[in-house]
Amino acid sequence: MERPEPELIRQSWRAVSRSPLEHGTVLFARLFALEPSLLPLFQYNGRQFSSPEDCLSSPEFLDHIRKVMLVIDAAVTNVENLSSLEEYLASLGRKHRAVGTVGESLLHMLEKCLGPDFTPATRAAWSQLYGAVVQAMSRGWDGE
Ligand code: HEM
Repeated sequence: MERPEPELIRQSWRAVSRSPLEHGTVLFARLFALEPSLLPLFQYNGRQFSSPEDCLSSPEFLDHIRKVMLVIDAAVTNVENLSSLEEYLASLGRKHRAVGTVGESLLHMLEKCLGPDFTPATRAAWSQLYGAVVQAMSRGWDGE
């Protein structure tokens, strides 16, 4: 796999990370639109959400959005040395298997945030970074 271009990743992430909660909400709204069956996976205190809007406005889910944005932030910070996150990502992967649509939703969120600055080269860099993160997470899927 090709390495993501660090400068493109850092530059584009700067705009997103100014308001992580807002952009994380765009990401998950897209995810639930693409794959509504993911909604029941989020339950806090045994309570199920009745709609994506219900979920996207709950404090517990907003905490999950913050966690997701922190993981992406760590991947951006370590974009030149992703192997330093390998163990962490494998353990996170043990709890996360449905990752296909997340990549699509991430690209959608970046496009919304960056507009014309989301160039084909920047898109390619993010696809590569996401691919590397998923690969590291998939090491946790064997269940060991
Ligand atoms: C398919 C989409 C996803 C589902 C269904 C999902 C589900 C969950 C659930 C149910 C939890 C436990 C409850 C909680 O902490 O809120 C959790 C925790 C977490 N998730 Fe996700 N998640 C998804 C995507 C992601 C993504 C894309 C990331 C980061 C790249 C992420 C990072 C985390 C982190 C860091 C935790 C806390 C782990 C811990 O406490 O050890 N999640 N997730």
